[in-house]
Amino acid sequence: MKTSMGFSKFVSLVLTFHLLTPTLVLSSSLSSSNGLSGIPRKFLDFAKRKEFVDWIVGVRRKIHENPELGYEEFETSKLIRSELDKLGIPYKHPVSVTGVVGFVGTGGPPFVALRADMDALPIQEEGDWEHRSKIPGKMHACGHDAHVSMALGAAKILQEHVQDINGTIVLVFQPAEEGGGGAKKMLDQGVLDNVDAIFGLHVTHQETVGTVVSDSGPILAGNGLFTAVITGRGGHAAHPQHSIDPILAASNIIVSLQHLVSCEADPFDPRVVTVGKFQGGSAFNVIPDSVTIEGTFRAFSLTSLVQLKQRIEEVIKGQAAVLRCNATIDFHDKPVPLYPPTVNDNDLHEHFLKVAGDMLGNDKVKDMKPLMGSEDFAFYQEAIPGYFYFIGMQDESRPKLGSVHTPQFTINEDVLPYGAALQASLAATHLLKAELKSASTEGNMHEDVLPYCAATHLLKAIYMKNCEDSRPF
Ligand SMILES: *[C@@H]1O[C@H](CO)[C@@H](O)[C@H](O)[C@H]1NC(C)=O
Ligand SMILES: *[C@@H]1O[C@H](CO)[C@@H](O)[C@H](O)[C@H]1NC(C)=O
Ligand SMILES: [Zn+2]
Ligand SMILES: [Zn+2]
Repeated sequence: MKTSMGFSKFVSLVLTFHLLTPTLVLSSSLSSSNGLSGIPRKFLDFAKRKEFVDWIVGVRRKIHENPELGYEEFETSKLIRSELDKLGIPYKHPVSVTGVVGFVGTGGPPFVALRADMDALPIQEEGDWEHRSKIPGKMHACGHDAHVSMALGAAKILQEHVQDINGTIVLVFQPAEEGGGGAKKMLDQGVLDNVDAIFGLHVTHQETVGTVVSDSGPILAGNGLFTAVITGRGGHAAHPQHSIDPILAASNIIVSLQHLVSCEADPFDPRVVTVGKFQGGSAFNVIPDSVTIEGTFRAFSLTSLVQLKQRIEEVIKGQAAVLRCNATIDFHDKPVPLYPPTVNDNDLHEHFLKVAGDMLGNDKVKDMKPLMGSEDFAFYQEAIPGYFYFIGMQDESRPKLGSVHTPQFTINEDVLPYGAALQASLAATHLLKAELKSASTEGNMHEDVLPYCAATHLLKAIYMKNCEDSRPF
């Protein structure tokens, strides 16, 4: 609504316009009390055009070929900036080493953010295809290449409708989600100052294309990790009495750590403690000097996490002492602290149900059972209301996709238009709602009519753009 006329005057113009040309308005917006409902489908139609799909798939493949680990996403960052340049979208760079923050809209409030993570994993890709990873030992095995291209896709959709956006969409391209806490560093740089809400997504092979899964409240656990070095005194395995055996001590430690969940945790407060690494010894007949173990601990509240952390330290030190060993423990929680649980805002959940339902059908929007996985997106949610959801990519007519963090992981590129359109819709309708709220508190219009009017405005613009077939996309 970027006109010089007053809001109520504009509204009456739109209403008149609507009465004269009813075909321009989706019938669903007529019957529904919330006229925003046409936008998600329009955006999806837009994203499914061939030109758009070719472009977004191309972007994703380029990123996939050149995977970069956390805080090393220099080429990925460069590619993002060059696409933003092409779209005429201004941005800030560098933010937290490789991060990029783009801005679509007026540059003024209200602000809503979309987030994409950029980093790959130290995994060797197994699949052999034209656009496989060109970097030995590194791979986009968590789908962050898809996340970046979907965020660029959302940017393209939004920029195409920028005339109709009153407010600003902040595009947050962050480094180092995989353990590096890139989100925390972006947050510390103030990227969410004055931002009302943030949306993030993750691809999943466990749902089909066109299906999304999430819930209100905690959906992913908070997470910490530890490295412990247990030191004894090495010697000949034939004379254990002359040595101090760290292998036995480490074994006791691992068994005792299991009791933190089975004996000390409330069964209704889910927790996990897993030791994933045990390194020590080099020969069958030698007692080594030391053993290193590493593990992860997870829970759904920071209180539970902090409690686990304290007990893990006590158990490791105590059990080491029982067998005359010493132990040092590093929780790697500086400068990035423990990952908090991912907790979805309830109002944003309602918003998501509506927008995703309008786009995909209500039966394609599923409730999620919380998972013990974790996400650094949670840091954003500690600062402002945020919403994180999963978007399906399984195609039942094709072989089953490999799961995340494995060398067999694959992206079904059909998911890309869905993610782009849904992120764009969540942001655009959120801004419209904010505008309507502020307009209705000014008392210009009856509240029921307002969503309808503003949505009509945007729909009309989208509709007219869609009518121009020859328009180069
Ligand atoms: C944009 O929306 C704000 C309310 O959020 C309103 O005060 C302002 O007048 C609007 N600007 C235009 C150009 O419509
Ligand atoms: C453990 O630390 C104490 C105090 O520094 C030291 O006296 C002892 O020798 C250490 N034990 C082992 C097995 O390293
Ligand atoms: Zn991952
Ligand atoms: Zn991931």
